Amino acid sequence: MARPRTLFVTTALPYANGAFHVGHIMEYIQADIWVRFQRMRGNTVHFVGADDAHGAPIMIAAEKAGCTPQEFVAGIAGNRKTYFDGFHIAFDHWHSTDSPENVELSQGIYLALKGAGLIDRREIEQFYDPVKGMFLADRYIKGKCPKCGAPDQYGDSCEVCGAVYAPTDLIEPFSALSGATPELRRSEHFFFRLSDPRCVAFLREWTRSNGRHGGPRLQPEVLAKAREWLGGEDPQGRLADWDISRDAPYFGIEIPGEPGKYFYVWLDAPIGYLASLKAYCGRADIDFDALMNDDTVEQVHFIGKDIIYFHVLFWPAMLHFAGRKTPDQVNVHGFITASGEKMSKSRGTGISPLRYLELGLNPDWLRYYIAAKLNSHVEDVDFNPDDFVARVNSDLVGKLVNIASRCSNFLVRRFGGRLGEPDPQAIAGFAAAWAGPEAVARLYEQRDYGKAIREIMQYADAINQYVDTARPWDVAKDPAAGEALQRICSTAINGFRDLVLLLAPVMPATTGRALEQLSLTLPGWSAIGTPLPAGHVIGPYAHLMTRIDGKAVDRLLGIAEDAPAPAAGGQGGGKAAGSDAATRKDKDKAAVPGEGFVGIEDFAKLDLRIARIVSAARVEGSKKLLQLSLDIGEERPRQVFSGIQSAYAPEDIVGRLTVMIANLAPRKMKFGISEGMVLSAGHEDPERGTGIYLLSADSGAEPGMRIG
Ligand code: 2FM
Ligand code: ZN
Repeated sequence: MARPRTLFVTTALPYANGAFHVGHIMEYIQADIWVRFQRMRGNTVHFVGADDAHGAPIMIAAEKAGCTPQEFVAGIAGNRKTYFDGFHIAFDHWHSTDSPENVELSQGIYLALKGAGLIDRREIEQFYDPVKGMFLADRYIKGKCPKCGAPDQYGDSCEVCGAVYAPTDLIEPFSALSGATPELRRSEHFFFRLSDPRCVAFLREWTRSNGRHGGPRLQPEVLAKAREWLGGEDPQGRLADWDISRDAPYFGIEIPGEPGKYFYVWLDAPIGYLASLKAYCGRADIDFDALMNDDTVEQVHFIGKDIIYFHVLFWPAMLHFAGRKTPDQVNVHGFITASGEKMSKSRGTGISPLRYLELGLNPDWLRYYIAAKLNSHVEDVDFNPDDFVARVNSDLVGKLVNIASRCSNFLVRRFGGRLGEPDPQAIAGFAAAWAGPEAVARLYEQRDYGKAIREIMQYADAINQYVDTARPWDVAKDPAAGEALQRICSTAINGFRDLVLLLAPVMPATTGRALEQLSLTLPGWSAIGTPLPAGHVIGPYAHLMTRIDGKAVDRLLGIAEDAPAPAAGGQGGGKAAGSDAATRKDKDKAAVPGEGFVGIEDFAKLDLRIARIVSAARVEGSKKLLQLSLDIGEERPRQVFSGIQSAYAPEDIVGRLTVMIANLAPRKMKFGISEGMVLSAGHEDPERGTGIYLLSADSGAEPGMRIG
């Protein structure tokens, strides 16, 4: 038996300037499956993540939203739990790169690199916005394309003719932030000397060597890319030095001893992996330094294909020359596409993970579908709605659940739930039908989840064929055939138990409920294939999973009209529970919308949401209004002007949860556009007082939750 491993596992840190999209969720699901699998193998895993909080875009977004970057980031971070809980993604800890741990670690790593002679200072010339008082990254400079003359092109490339250029080549450049004409100014920047022969030699060796697990650190296609970047056999190497500093104003970490200079966000972002682990260790009473200095501990990253360069060149070099452990695996996945194309909201092919949860779709369906499509290569994963429905309905309902629903209750009704001995011949037949638990373990280990699932489904097919042939429902009619009935059902239920364990990393909620019905707790991987002892008592079968309703998927894609808001909660399964319930209620009560009443369908037209007040400010020139910035789980906060100034000081309501109408048509006001309305109460009779009372939500409510 191999020695248990200790693994430090991360996913890429998402920028804290928007809600999660399905690409994020896919990566978290991929990593979460791997982590759950490793734990079933008896390994110890520390699985952490964090928000990537720093950088100019977040600083600018916060300014637009009228709040500090810290408040802005906190508003985004407040939403993350909805997704993690919703999709059963079990990070041990979620942190932020804007944290004391990250300041300490980033500054320490920088000083170590400086001590190793790998930091240079150089003057560079860059565009500066004299109105904003800041240097401008390429994406904040616009002008006419120097090649085709197209107006309004960004500073690095032209969207019309595809030309790539430097911002200084633009004709009539202007700042995208203020419209001002930028000036070229000189400033001292700090560079990480990636071109240093020591770095090149180290990376050439590191990229092709094995990690502590004995396998390659990089997938073959990632290694090929890295070798290309490293200049193949060119003895000089071809790596450019990396500009790691930005001038104030910047939302980031100050470079020690260099006032007004900050680390570029990509310097401190990966260090955020360590910062999150450190914060977690503090909470879990683990010695962080001892853990990271333990040479057997493996460091494993899951990332997307767009950020390979940072993770296979900068990051290992930074760690190595700062005297730290380097990653053992950088696992790269592709993007998620919709029916073969880039997901697009406007074409109705995008799927919003929040919408998925709101519609009451079962998270295990998506986890299963994504797993079935993933392999160990850097390939895109395609979400095809018809395939999604067919796959889930056929594999999970038609094959997996079908076994328990056909066999459990014979055991419960006829034998008090007691299992008998399984049929050894049938068990041998099953074993021949699939590759077995160790082969599936190897596939999970290599992230070849699609192949693992194919093997598991072959096992499920064999069990179903056995049940089809043995026909327990016919055997049950013969009172003399009790023993045979118990044996058939025990054989099938033992197989079902194996399937549940094999799928436990992929579908934690469904398999958790199935294990509960079998009166079992989640054992280790080695239990798979060993029948439960005769005499073990299982509980009654209760409905485990519904079929996917194609209409719910249409609603997810925005093709069908929304049903009334789904009821919250439920057993994580089934379709939008609210739709049936609401229709039924309508019939039962038969309330006639008339004078003084509205029908439920009128109420359902209002999109009421929980909103967090990210910022609040008085409006110049108005005695009544406060300008609110409201987070309702969308990519950017909504701006709402609300007549509550007489009752609330802006600083008192920041951070509060309230209720807003999210689908009120935007109103153009003297002071700007109001994108909704917050709800408040007040006396109708002014004699009784003029107080205004903002509605608030009970604790536990999350921004973006639908009210109904
Ligand atoms: O590309 C991104 O979304 C980055 N925020 C990823 C950072 S990963 C790590 F380095 F923190
Ligand atoms: Zn052009």
